[in-house]
Amino acid sequence: MAMNGKKEVIHREGMEEKLKKIDLMLPPPETEPDRQYYFMRKLREQVSAMKKELGRPLTANITTFGCQMNARDSEKILGIMRYVGYEESDSQEADFVLYNTCTVRENANLKVYGRLGQLKTAKRKNPNMVVALCGCMMQEEEVVEKIKKSYRNVDIIFGTHNIFKLAELLFRKLSDCEGNAKMLIDIWEGTTEIVEDLPNERKYKFKGGVNIMFGCNNFCSYCIVPYVRGRERSREPEDIIAEITDMVNDGVIEVMLLGQNVNSYGKNLKHPVTFAQLLERVEQIEGLKRIRFMTSHPKDLSDELIAVMGRSRKICKQLHLPLQSGSSRLLKIMNRHYTKEDYLLLVDKIRRAVPDISLTTDIIVGFPGETEEDFADTMDVVERVGYDSAFTFIYSKRTGTPAAQMENQVPEEIVKKRFDQLLAAVQDISARKTREKTGSVQEVLVEEKNKQDSSLVTGRTSQNYVVHFPGDASFIGKIVPVRLEESKGFYFIGSRVEQAR
Ligand code: SAH
Ligand code: SF4
Ligand code: F3S
Repeated sequence: MAMNGKKEVIHREGMEEKLKKIDLMLPPPETEPDRQYYFMRKLREQVSAMKKELGRPLTANITTFGCQMNARDSEKILGIMRYVGYEESDSQEADFVLYNTCTVRENANLKVYGRLGQLKTAKRKNPNMVVALCGCMMQEEEVVEKIKKSYRNVDIIFGTHNIFKLAELLFRKLSDCEGNAKMLIDIWEGTTEIVEDLPNERKYKFKGGVNIMFGCNNFCSYCIVPYVRGRERSREPEDIIAEITDMVNDGVIEVMLLGQNVNSYGKNLKHPVTFAQLLERVEQIEGLKRIRFMTSHPKDLSDELIAVMGRSRKICKQLHLPLQSGSSRLLKIMNRHYTKEDYLLLVDKIRRAVPDISLTTDIIVGFPGETEEDFADTMDVVERVGYDSAFTFIYSKRTGTPAAQMENQVPEEIVKKRFDQLLAAVQDISARKTREKTGSVQEVLVEEKNKQDSSLVTGRTSQNYVVHFPGDASFIGKIVPVRLEESKGFYFIGSRVEQAR
């Protein structure tokens, strides 16, 4: 589907060519991605035979919990499923039902167990259904044990390090080599391997996410991510640039660079590269109009990066800079490696370089031992920074993390009170920030037709604000100047400003 790009064609053909070259009469190759090409082709033949036998298409339903990492993984999974011949479906009674799970907080896990319970009836209705689980929750031993015991209707479990093996696992399941009743479990502990060149999809034609690194080395004391996503490993800059160039040739104008801490990108490469240097290379890709990235850890946000953000024409005016707590005492126990003062200074520096930047954050309330004074520090930073928006979380105890061992857990009713107070402040400031922008003209990348009102389209400004304005489908994927007429809490109603771009 390349529009005009030579490189795009070469890249895609590369994979297709390699797939064709695989000899299915031989045993499966040992090396990746060849091994997966082998199973993708085997599975495609099998799916095609099943479709003939059933006299209908085979459908896949994928539900994603958690963060951008999981969303991106799900796109890759969908790419494999489409390649082997499945059609995407909304139905919970599809032939392949997959939950890509998150375990960052306890309630993320509870949602998955709830869904698995409901699946028991759905599976009775469609006996061909294969149920698969993957994602961060599956990297926890006790979770897999519980599923083995209580949710026998699950067919396949795999983890965060081997999503690329889906075709192999599904082929084994469907070809019944090991007996249909057996639950296939394939979890990898840790890996340094990054498998490139597998098919993947993206939700929007004109924008997409690109992993620049995987895993996390920070071990914030409350956080389970490093245990379930493994150690930090960066992709080679050449692979990243090639992927983005391919995407641009396929119609993408906005890219989101993804990593748990993008600011430490490139440190473990053979020839180290900084994140700022990577951004400068991405900036040069012709045809690309907008660059976003997340997440930035304040401890690693360098002056070099701030300078690049200041002079870039493509980096969006938005920075997600998780605070977690405003108390220097708690930040130390959280293992965050910055103080309240460091954070505020950093915000000043960024605002000097990019005056109209929109700042967003993550904050945890009720970390073990949080006092009224600690909480007052958090409220103080929130007021002083004036976030455009903030995600607020109640601390959730995660087994295996250092904070889970801490004895001074804060009583629930105190946490709830603080949480409500913080949320009210955050929403108040957010609404004020939105109001302040009313009347300004912003460039909006139009994403879709408005779901409630078909005379409107919906898009995002560089600062990531949502805007609805009168327009039709021909605007989708274009950047248009829009006057923000009216603020409605966290979004705007706008009107298009006539001017050639
Ligand atoms: N890598 C990113 C975010 C990962 S998780 C970063 O460092 O910012 C997203 C957010 O979930 C975190 O920023 C944190 O605010 C929240 N979070 C992580 N563990 C948590 C826990 N145990 N309880 C409550 N919130 C948590
Ligand atoms: Fe978790 Fe901290 Fe890593 Fe973010 S930086 S994923 S909060 S350990
Ligand atoms: Fe959740 Fe895993 Fe992301 S635990 S927040 S999906 S990295």
